Amino acid sequence: MRAYEIIQAKRDGRAIPPADVAALVDGFTRGEIPDYQMAAFCMAVFFRGMEDAEVRALTDAMLRSGDVLDLSDVPGAKIDKHSTGGVGDKVSLALAPLAAACGVKVPMISGRGLGHTGGTLDKLEAIPGFRVDLPVERFRALVRDVGACLVGQTARLAPADKKLYALRDVTATVESIPLIAGSIMSKKLAEGIDGLVLDVKVGSGAFMKSLDDARALARTLAAIGRGMGKRVTALLTRMDEPLGRAVGNALEVVETIELLRGGGPADLRALTIELTAEMLLLAGVAKDLAAARVAVERAIADGRGLAKLEQIVAAQGGDVAALRDPARLPRAAGTYPVPAPASGFVAAIDTQAIGLAAVALGAGRARVEDAVDPAVGLVVEKKLGDRVSAGEPLCLVHHGPRSEPREAIAARVARAYRIEATPPPARPLVLER
Ligand code: URA
Repeated sequence: MRAYEIIQAKRDGRAIPPADVAALVDGFTRGEIPDYQMAAFCMAVFFRGMEDAEVRALTDAMLRSGDVLDLSDVPGAKIDKHSTGGVGDKVSLALAPLAAACGVKVPMISGRGLGHTGGTLDKLEAIPGFRVDLPVERFRALVRDVGACLVGQTARLAPADKKLYALRDVTATVESIPLIAGSIMSKKLAEGIDGLVLDVKVGSGAFMKSLDDARALARTLAAIGRGMGKRVTALLTRMDEPLGRAVGNALEVVETIELLRGGGPADLRALTIELTAEMLLLAGVAKDLAAARVAVERAIADGRGLAKLEQIVAAQGGDVAALRDPARLPRAAGTYPVPAPASGFVAAIDTQAIGLAAVALGAGRARVEDAVDPAVGLVVEKKLGDRVSAGEPLCLVHHGPRSEPREAIAARVARAYRIEATPPPARPLVLER
């Protein structure tokens, strides 16, 4: 089928033969199929979905668009973690060094901001000099010698995802189980991993808003991974408020350093420990989850996690001094608070709206060619269940030259909060394993 016929068939709800899915992905990656046709196809998939065979064909074609690394000569278990995307989700920044400090090899291909969510690559690039575009040979050497390396998709590693990810980001075609599955698993399977921990987010700040959809995504991701002979663990975790307090690239780096120094917000710390512990378990370097958690907590307490982050940053060209002195990180032009319109308890936060406020400040992209402003973002002062008095700050906004005006941002943030007379029931962070 020609691209037009593939789009038409999907638009009308018909399954696309695997060979045609592969041809479409190959043509798009080579630049023969233009962005507008691929964007139309993604929108058709968004509405019509894909059958299992189509998702397998999509993932396989995206995986084969670049190299599949063989890290069998690197001693130790190679385990990665991937989140389906959230707001304030900076877990990878601390998890990769912590897992490496505990003896796991972490080859990590990450993404940039996507829709209302932030991306690990944009956060890392807030560290002056940090390079995420390393050649494959350097990636392999750093996984072997340092224990972890965090890079982006390249012309050799998952190039189809590099192009498609950027296109989906700006065409509102992210929240689709087949497209998310192809994107995540093509990157992860290209890394040469033995096992993968999946953090499948659910809630107002996730791409999957309901537990049923998140379960379906987790099952699809795990089935693809296990079908390729990988060990896979998936956790369904709450994304109904920003994780931690910082939302925005440099702000999230600062919060990561706080965590690795033994502080940081409790929810971020708990989830980072849990996901890293799952990696240790998959790697076989801890006998059970309880022992794995203790090992990760020890790596925070004795400073090995922070030392490993410094080693990773140095190896990837970043300014290590900026980790010790956050004043060297990009700083916003100024800050202002967003006051609570009423007194009560924070009953709900439209977390996607908070993520979009961060994008409107310049922390994410409106068009493929946009650059992010690493300095801008929000610090969440009031989280779910917190008591708040009218006029108290809900968030502190860090704004920049490209940010939407103060009134527009303040309205976005205020609208995102629901304040009621009673607090909401407390829910665990990890909803299912
Ligand atoms: N993370 C990814 O890598 N891809 C998606 O599509 C969503 C989250």
